[in-house]
Amino acid sequence: MALALRFARAGARVRIGSRTSERAQTAAKLAGEKAGSGAVEGFENAAAVREAGVVVLTVPPDAQVDTLQALASSFRPGAILVDATVRLQSDENSALLAAKHVPEGVRVASAFHTLSAGLVGNLEETIDSDVLICADDPEAKAAASALVRMLPGARPIDAGGLKKSRLIENTVQLLIALNRAHKVKHSGIRITGL
Ligand SMILES: NC(=O)c1ccc[n+]([C@@H]2O[C@H](COP(=O)([O-])OP(=O)(O)OC[C@H]3O[C@@H](n4cnc5c(N)ncnc54)[C@H](OP(=O)(O)O)[C@@H]3O)[C@@H](O)[C@H]2O)c1
Repeated sequence: MALALRFARAGARVRIGSRTSERAQTAAKLAGEKAGSGAVEGFENAAAVREAGVVVLTVPPDAQVDTLQALASSFRPGAILVDATVRLQSDENSALLAAKHVPEGVRVASAFHTLSAGLVGNLEETIDSDVLICADDPEAKAAASALVRMLPGARPIDAGGLKKSRLIENTVQLLIALNRAHKVKHSGIRITGL
């Protein structure tokens, strides 16, 4: 919902997916109103994915594989999946797991791990953060970078192939610890020298 809001505010056509079309439509109505966009629609997940060239996956880690398996026949050939899943209690690489469970021909990038939903969902706030992007496919990397550029103040940084994505998930653990230690809501990352 938070990312959908920002994409809608940036003028993108957005299809919000949910396990129920009712929840999707409610979320889409709210996002459209908040973002001042008439181009946000809500669909049950499979219908949302069927028409999308770029799909952003933001489900809890335990639901990632089941969700991708359920959607396997819905992806358009050549579609791009941008996975935002973060596993905090495991060493498993969520991006590689996503790549393993999408149909052949679907390209995977990972991004958005280090942005908190609270920050992204507040349209009054500038993001002021770098977003590390991993992908093995150049078009997937470019598509994820284009999404990041829709967030005011956010800068996409190429962090390498999907194997590197686990390092970013570990960074999220660090950011959460820093938030607690310094009593802030949304710490982020800035890479200097690039
Ligand atoms: N929250 C953050 O600040 C943040 C930041 C960076 C990355 N992430 C990552 O982004 C992902 C989503 O985080 P979140 O905080 O947005 O999670 P969330 O609010 O718990 O879940 C997002 C949506 O996933 C769907 N969902 C929930 N349980 C599901 C299940 N068992 N099967 C299929 N769909 C399910 C729900 O939509 P419906 O009920 O409408 O289907 C829910 O609204 C996670 O992997 C998290 O690690 C989160």
